[in-house]
Amino acid sequence: MKIPVIWLDEVDSTNTYALDNLSKLPDKALIFADSQTAGRGRRGRTWLSPRGVNIYASFVVKNPSFPVYCAAWIGGLTALEALREYVPFLDFWLKWPNDVYCRNRKIAGVLCESRTCSGGNPKGIVIGIGINLNMAKDVLDTIDRPATSVFVETGRQVDLKEFAALLTKKISRCYSIVHLSGTERFYKRWKKENRLLGKDIEFMLDNGDILNGKVSDFGHSGEIILLSDNGRIHSFHSGETSLIP
Ligand code: BTN
Repeated sequence: MKIPVIWLDEVDSTNTYALDNLSKLPDKALIFADSQTAGRGRRGRTWLSPRGVNIYASFVVKNPSFPVYCAAWIGGLTALEALREYVPFLDFWLKWPNDVYCRNRKIAGVLCESRTCSGGNPKGIVIGIGINLNMAKDVLDTIDRPATSVFVETGRQVDLKEFAALLTKKISRCYSIVHLSGTERFYKRWKKENRLLGKDIEFMLDNGDILNGKVSDFGHSGEIILLSDNGRIHSFHSGETSLIP
């Protein structure tokens, strides 16, 4: 499946660019940028985006059969697959909802956003993917959470264009699978890769409340299902997870 690729020199955020240009951009457009001046993460955080060291990408889905949660799985799974293929000897894993981790440090994140038309129908979904490739340790240390990059883990520089081509190939394949076979196959893969299953975690709700419990399942629309320490079952579509060592 042919993916139209746009490569920008500098932009505030590839997600903002894609959302602002949604009506003009074709379905499956993939926007890369060398740098972002206002890169955005989940929960209103900033995504550090210096020039020429990492992947900053946004994939546009205008196909109405794609639910937003499934689009987000595409982001997490393609980042995971591309990292695994590029560095097969490192252990990468998915942390709910769609963060990619290497050991106990975050290496990639996904920000999925959508716009609706005035009638309420979805106009399109934008899957933002940030992958730390060549970021140096002193820069990573300025991030308020444990983060890493391929360079820090291997001591080797990644060719950004080569990695972008690999990611494009993975996105194209995933898009075709979801388009042709539906979301179920994807749900199974996404669930299998989520290493929090069965683990004791601390969960921060959107209102800041904290809940301790065991991850008992992941639902078909991307929700996390927790058995809290007081024996109750809870289900959340958003929030923040931390493993209890
Ligand atoms: C997260 O908080 O884990 C999500 C990070 C998503 C970052 C990417 S970089 C490309 C795209 N543009 C943005 O502004 N954010 C996403």
